[in-house]
Amino acid sequence: MHSLDHHDTIRAVAWDSGALRLLDQRRLPFVETWLDCRNADDVATAIRDLVVRGAPAIGIAAAWGVVLAARQGADLDAAITRLRAARPTAVNLMWALDRMRARIGAGADAAGLEHEARTIQDEDLAANRRMGELGAALIAPGSGVLTHCNTGSLATAGFGTALGVIRAGFSAGKIAQVYAGETRPWLQGARLTMWELLRDGIPARLIADSAASHLMKSGAVHWVIVGADRIAANGDTANKIGTYQLAIAARHHGVKFMVVAPTSTFDAAMSSGDRIEIEQRDPAELFSCGGQRIVAEGAQAWNPVFDVTPHGLIDAIVSERGVIERPDRERMRTVLGA
Ligand code: MRU
Repeated sequence: MHSLDHHDTIRAVAWDSGALRLLDQRRLPFVETWLDCRNADDVATAIRDLVVRGAPAIGIAAAWGVVLAARQGADLDAAITRLRAARPTAVNLMWALDRMRARIGAGADAAGLEHEARTIQDEDLAANRRMGELGAALIAPGSGVLTHCNTGSLATAGFGTALGVIRAGFSAGKIAQVYAGETRPWLQGARLTMWELLRDGIPARLIADSAASHLMKSGAVHWVIVGADRIAANGDTANKIGTYQLAIAARHHGVKFMVVAPTSTFDAAMSSGDRIEIEQRDPAELFSCGGQRIVAEGAQAWNPVFDVTPHGLIDAIVSERGVIERPDRERMRTVLGA
């Protein structure tokens, strides 16, 4: 067994003889239940409702959605349009659908599309393993790290992006303690990241999102390690709401800030982060916690679920093609070869 295999045991997106099975992330950590998608609309709804979430995972699920449409002889253009509209910020969704569309354009049948979806999924897993090695190499032995949202096996084909670096870093003795922010309002950190870290036996402590600056001031954290939903050509990075304030706090306290994302998350057509569409979700997500209303009736709320960290606050972007230190337009181009 590869030494990292025992840190790679969760699969959230599974093709099972004609159906797409999704581990329902709305119900974790207490209920492990699978939702079967039988057509592209089921997949689009599952993406919108966060049954499946995380930038690479929604791209992979959407690719399988196209396979389902092809197997049923459905209108593929219409299916792709609906899948594309499921969520706006993570470019992996559009990237995967563009790949499927290219195969359709080249005359692929349902079997050919199935092969492409499987390839997208396999490539993501391989990219995560590679990024794990590259990212872990940047970390000094015995470090403390802080992560945000969930970037693990649940958010990808397996292993994870930022959480993959944490897995590899822990395995190599680089990481002694992980801190995970709760990630209000959907609690990806509390519900999902803590679940993954506990399963792996990685020492992890949950913090309230608002405890991050105080934690950094204490000296317990050497790296903030996060994933991404879309990285612009100049390195500006969209990720889960709250990432930007972590980057500001990290710079203030001399803590390093690492973004880990496969090249499917890079959007070369987006010159800077200013134009990235930020998904706004139902304010009702802020009005309750664990199904319990916590805010007085009649209240209003603002619920953007991503923000953009300017490249100047990022110390390293780790992709499967290499590490981009102090990213800017020029260095991005050099490493990505675009
Ligand atoms: O709203 P979500 O849960 O889909 O947001 C996920 C994130 O912001 C992740 O950090 C990002 O997609 C990277 S996942 C490898």
